[in-house]
Amino acid sequence: MKRTPVIAANWKMNITPSESEGFVKAFIPLVKDNREVEIVLCPSSPTIERVTRSLKDAQNIKTGGQNIYFEVNGAFTGETSASMLKDLGCSYVILGHSERREIFHETNDMVNKKVKKALQTGLSCIVCVGEKLSERQNGRTESVVKDHVTNSLANFSKDDMKNIVIAYEPVWAIGTGVNATPEQAEEVHVFIRGLLKDMFDEETAEATRIQYGGSVKPENIKELMAQKNIDGALVGGASLKPDSFAKIVNYQ
Ligand code: PGA
Repeated sequence: MKRTPVIAANWKMNITPSESEGFVKAFIPLVKDNREVEIVLCPSSPTIERVTRSLKDAQNIKTGGQNIYFEVNGAFTGETSASMLKDLGCSYVILGHSERREIFHETNDMVNKKVKKALQTGLSCIVCVGEKLSERQNGRTESVVKDHVTNSLANFSKDDMKNIVIAYEPVWAIGTGVNATPEQAEEVHVFIRGLLKDMFDEETAEATRIQYGGSVKPENIKELMAQKNIDGALVGGASLKPDSFAKIVNYQ
């Protein structure tokens, strides 16, 4: 099955609203002819509006948030709701990133609730899963990934899956400069597709896009994307400069 690649920039807590203007201005012309890849910029919440505004004439670039809280509104100081992101023009939200799981103690159950709220609000989700170095070294990669996928995506329908992208991000590869080899990544992507087949059906498993994330850069994107089951990338460090992110998006 042909799956449209989706490549997303995860700016994390970088790039202020003012700085984003220069990024977007430089980035648009570099990717203006790219219709093969779904391109998504995920700025921090305060930067989103400036980015969506600067992108208004660039039909081929979408925006996304990096997190939401699962309640609709109310007394949740410091949190952002799904409808706030939607109101700002986002079409995506990244959920369950390992930094959220690690630093902010997000559990699968919380990720599950967030995905549910995002989908109800009309946002597509990039749901992150992946093992830590010690877990890989102890031969626990598959059990950790299975736990993340089955519990973060518990109780969703095949229809819901049309708006969910999975990002496989081995924690040991994030921000380290050491990416998983294309073979290592492909092995886990095949495993995830198998899980989706068991949870939903073959058609859903084949249609779901699975991104790889962890030290993706212009030098390794091509060989990663050459793998049959890698359908895009979630890019941190190398997405902070327009030319480097454009090279990744224009890998073909
Ligand atoms: P990195 O981050 O590309 O800087 O490794 C990826 C991510 O955390 O999504």
